[in-house]
Amino acid sequence: MAGSVFKRNKNLEFKSKKLTILAIETSCDETSVAIVENGEKILSNIVASSADIFAKIGGIIPEQAARQQLMFIIPVLEQSLKKAYPKIKDSRKIIAQKIDAIAVTVGPGLIGSLLVGIETAKVISFVFQKPLIPVNHLVGHIYANWLNQKRKPPLPGLSLIASGGHTDLVLLKKHGEVEWLGGTRDDAAGEAFDKTARLLGLPYPGGPSISSLADKFFEKNKNTPLTLLPRPLANEKNFDFSFSGLKTHVANIVKRWRLTPQKRARLAAEIQEAIVDSLIKKVLLANDKYKPKSIHLVGGVAANKRLRQKIKYYRILQGKVHVPPPSLCTDNAAFIASCAYYNFIPKNWEKIEPIPDLKISGFKSI
Ligand code: KG4
Ligand code: ZN
Repeated sequence: MAGSVFKRNKNLEFKSKKLTILAIETSCDETSVAIVENGEKILSNIVASSADIFAKIGGIIPEQAARQQLMFIIPVLEQSLKKAYPKIKDSRKIIAQKIDAIAVTVGPGLIGSLLVGIETAKVISFVFQKPLIPVNHLVGHIYANWLNQKRKPPLPGLSLIASGGHTDLVLLKKHGEVEWLGGTRDDAAGEAFDKTARLLGLPYPGGPSISSLADKFFEKNKNTPLTLLPRPLANEKNFDFSFSGLKTHVANIVKRWRLTPQKRARLAAEIQEAIVDSLIKKVLLANDKYKPKSIHLVGGVAANKRLRQKIKYYRILQGKVHVPPPSLCTDNAAFIASCAYYNFIPKNWEKIEPIPDLKISGFKSI
């Protein structure tokens, strides 16, 4: 294995000047392949999404998502190689000559979708004899803040990972050391957006649908207090979240109200505000207790405009908050490549398999 070539010195720098990682991410309904230099410079980051197929149904059908992954993986791989190195016509030459290692998401995620990325990564690693690095998707999300950044987040840092399947609050003490502080007891924040959007008759994914409808409400009602919905656990001194009650509340309101366009927009703004407030409350609590040097908002929900704006109102957090551009918040392979760079632990291909229920605290045990 070429792993020894990339041994780190004490300052977490690699001995070779440049390390180029090709990463594959197929944990859910996005197929992505990225090529990233030294964990920060994105040479290419191609994402094909099958979300439009699921827009009307209101959620993902795992079997269909896996079939879409199979359809997309080779074209996305090819496009990513071509974009990064347009002058080299032969894709095999690019992998052989330019790529130092392969990284792949091993979990959490849908088993069928994960398998497509993992098997592709194994074959590339085996044929071209490149080190293969398994990556925890949730830890990967955090590293979106290390991409294309002049100012990298200082550690220890506090990360809020809010996505479609997970909501976790963790301390990234140093690269490779994550402490889980708390997480959702039921639905994830993104799931709450998706499920309530469905109740309002809005398309999947629910986050962007609710957000744009809420914007319409804000255009005409700037100062209306948005306190209709509860913020469960918000006043408890722990780092847990609970979002499933929101769905029930919204379902009851939908039954009671006749949903005119204005009322639907108001409800969208209320849902968004309740989720955003619940998330920020626990970030403030953890900031107070652990005094991290940086705070990272990541995962699809971090693309939410209201969350990004509102967290900046808090002076106590100012200068600390790092949020990736929205395109790097949602699933993509560039953050998987960056995570692999800072946690460069290659594994033999025989030991790499999908772990659909991988936890963030299981990070070290991949
Ligand atoms: O991280 P991600 O792309 O995939 C998972 O790992 O789950 O997150 C997807 C989730 C979906 O639930 C989607 O509704 C939510 O992120 N999301 C948003 C926004 N964009 C995506 N939620 C709120 N506001 C957004 N702008
Ligand atoms: Zn994700």
